[in-house]
Amino acid sequence: MTESQEAQVSEAQIAVHWREEEYIYPPESFVAQANAADPAIFDRFAEDRFPDCFTEYADLLSWDKKWDTILDTSNPPYWKWFTGGRLNASYNCVDRHVAAYGNKAALIWVPEPESADHVAVTYRDLYHRVNEFAALLRDFCGLKAGDRVTLHMPMVPELPVTMLACARLGVIHSQVFGGFSGNACGTRIADSGSRVLITMDSYYRSGDLVDHKVKADEALAEAHKQGQEVDKVLVWRRHPGRYGSQTPMTEGRDFFVDEVLGSYRGQLVDPVSLPAEAPLFLMYTSGTTGRPKGAQHSIGGYLAYVTGTSKYYQDIHPDDTYWCMADIGWITGHSYIVYGPLSLGTTSVIYEGTPNYPDAGRPWRIAERLGVNIFHTSPTAIRMLRKVGPDEPAKYNYHFKHMTTVGEPIEPEVWRWYHKEVGKGEAVIVDTWWQTETGGFLGSSLPALKPMKPGSCGPAVIGIYAAIYDEEGNEVPDGKAGNICIRNPWPGIMQTIWGQPERFIDVYYTKYNKNPDSKDWHDWPYFAGDGAVRAPDGYYRILGRVDDVINVAGHRLGTKELESAALTVPEVAEAAAVPVVDDIRGRAVEMYVSLKPGFVASDEMAGKVTTAIEVEIGKIARPKHVWVVPDMPKTRSGKIMRRVIASVSNFTDIGDVTTLANPEIVEGIRHQVQSEKVNKGEVPRELTEAEYEEIKSFGAE
Ligand code: WTA
Repeated sequence: MTESQEAQVSEAQIAVHWREEEYIYPPESFVAQANAADPAIFDRFAEDRFPDCFTEYADLLSWDKKWDTILDTSNPPYWKWFTGGRLNASYNCVDRHVAAYGNKAALIWVPEPESADHVAVTYRDLYHRVNEFAALLRDFCGLKAGDRVTLHMPMVPELPVTMLACARLGVIHSQVFGGFSGNACGTRIADSGSRVLITMDSYYRSGDLVDHKVKADEALAEAHKQGQEVDKVLVWRRHPGRYGSQTPMTEGRDFFVDEVLGSYRGQLVDPVSLPAEAPLFLMYTSGTTGRPKGAQHSIGGYLAYVTGTSKYYQDIHPDDTYWCMADIGWITGHSYIVYGPLSLGTTSVIYEGTPNYPDAGRPWRIAERLGVNIFHTSPTAIRMLRKVGPDEPAKYNYHFKHMTTVGEPIEPEVWRWYHKEVGKGEAVIVDTWWQTETGGFLGSSLPALKPMKPGSCGPAVIGIYAAIYDEEGNEVPDGKAGNICIRNPWPGIMQTIWGQPERFIDVYYTKYNKNPDSKDWHDWPYFAGDGAVRAPDGYYRILGRVDDVINVAGHRLGTKELESAALTVPEVAEAAAVPVVDDIRGRAVEMYVSLKPGFVASDEMAGKVTTAIEVEIGKIARPKHVWVVPDMPKTRSGKIMRRVIASVSNFTDIGDVTTLANPEIVEGIRHQVQSEKVNKGEVPRELTEAEYEEIKSFGAE
């Protein structure tokens, strides 16, 4: 069987077993040029060198004033890195490269329509564009260091320009993923207290010019409801001079950037010298309650961490052409499209559209045309490209030295396709495990120095000392699953959750802290919320979330957020969100709802729930099914038993239902859901052990 036939037939049989995979070693050609090729690096970052080891990362930056203290632990777990130091992130990502690389592309932007040429933005162009936009933010909007600004922008070079202009002034940017709805954006505007929203009129997605400005109006209405007024909306235009949205511009509030910018041409703004521990940006993520968490990242610690990990783990050199296909609206894009790569003075590619538009050869044509040699994407994209275009990579003449996978566990079979077909057997792969909260990588093999192992992210990265604990905080033996934790602070860790300092401690530290008064960092392990297993060689295999978060295509969706969205439908009495195993997206969401008395189940009702979720969160959260059921399985105390319905949706054992208040309803629900799935040919494949555990204990009680 050829690889492509195999790809088509075996989709449903991927990784149903649990075995140790073999090692794969990096090619010599990679090792010869790698930034980290001397094993002495492991000693330099050994635990007895902590926290001094991280000066190696900080030294990659240009400081206005050097730090006095590497790590200030006086107020655990609010760690402060490089205190006393001052710097500017925009200076580090732009200005300092102009002398040596002024005419080199900092960004290469690839518009989605293939008829349009790509656009290179040199470091000198970037410098001018960032300066001019910073002048506009300062003088037209009156923004200054410490103010928050919400960005809701698509994948265009104006997005990094905007971020870096904010950073130049010390304005804290909060970029909301462009695919999120107006309401989701409005909630984040309110939470961050932004008085300015920066958006774009439209952008291309899967062949359509999408109206995006309309979401700004929805966002402002939602923010207003939540008590936050916005004074100005800055609207970049996808085609300057031509408005691509149906929504009117509100006089005195909405402004076209291309018009206003004219007055700021050629202006220069001195980068504001800021304390290392001043915030650089907020990145919102989901948790177990409905309110999103604004992870607050610092300038000095964060930038040092993403620069260091980009250098050693992404193996970025200034003359590489690096392409991370993630969206800048997620942490991956912030750290590994914008801040890390630009801080190292490399060329970072930004692609506007969907990977398979107009066909599954698109990414490989881009790679060939631009000479991309480092490629970074997610298991969902890899699974999708493997399914729709298994033979496409071979048709194009590109050569990757290095590839990354991030965001979800990758099945060994899919990993092997990525290695053999996309990487043509020539590229190393790093499987990087980390989170919005952690700023940069936590688990990954160091590509020239550690072999790859399909399906494992690898050991903890240098300077990260990980452990797997059981519920009581005892370390579990190798081969046993538990909660993966990081025992030490590191420079990339978020500083707090914006406006919710107690939640920061509760969610990440309370579980394993034995003494809240302790000033010793050893007493404050970071609880990541992921299940994991360590093999005897120290490699970690990440099993997935242990909280009520569903990871869809590498994006975290909180069950509470989904449920509150469903409950905005007036007829809905109760709602529960559960994950179903999905061969492309890892997990998909299924919603179960019950209606208030007097309403009857219908397709229309299910449709209303789907629409509500799209409006409140965005299309990304659209459920695969909405099941309108007569009642939810509940405990005697009235809690919905999500694990029971999750088992129904995934065709796994329902387990013990005798403790339910209403066990008799389970069989009816099972019949309703599973017969429809059987009719539609949606019976899932046999689950892996890890998947089975996840479903069995979902929302456990
Ligand atoms: C999951 C994305 C397995 C994990 C950078 C984590 C992964 C959550 C991996 C964070 C990986 C991320 N292998 N699982 N390589 N990378 N995850 O905040 O469950 O969007 O907790 O950050 O994604 O998602 P987030």
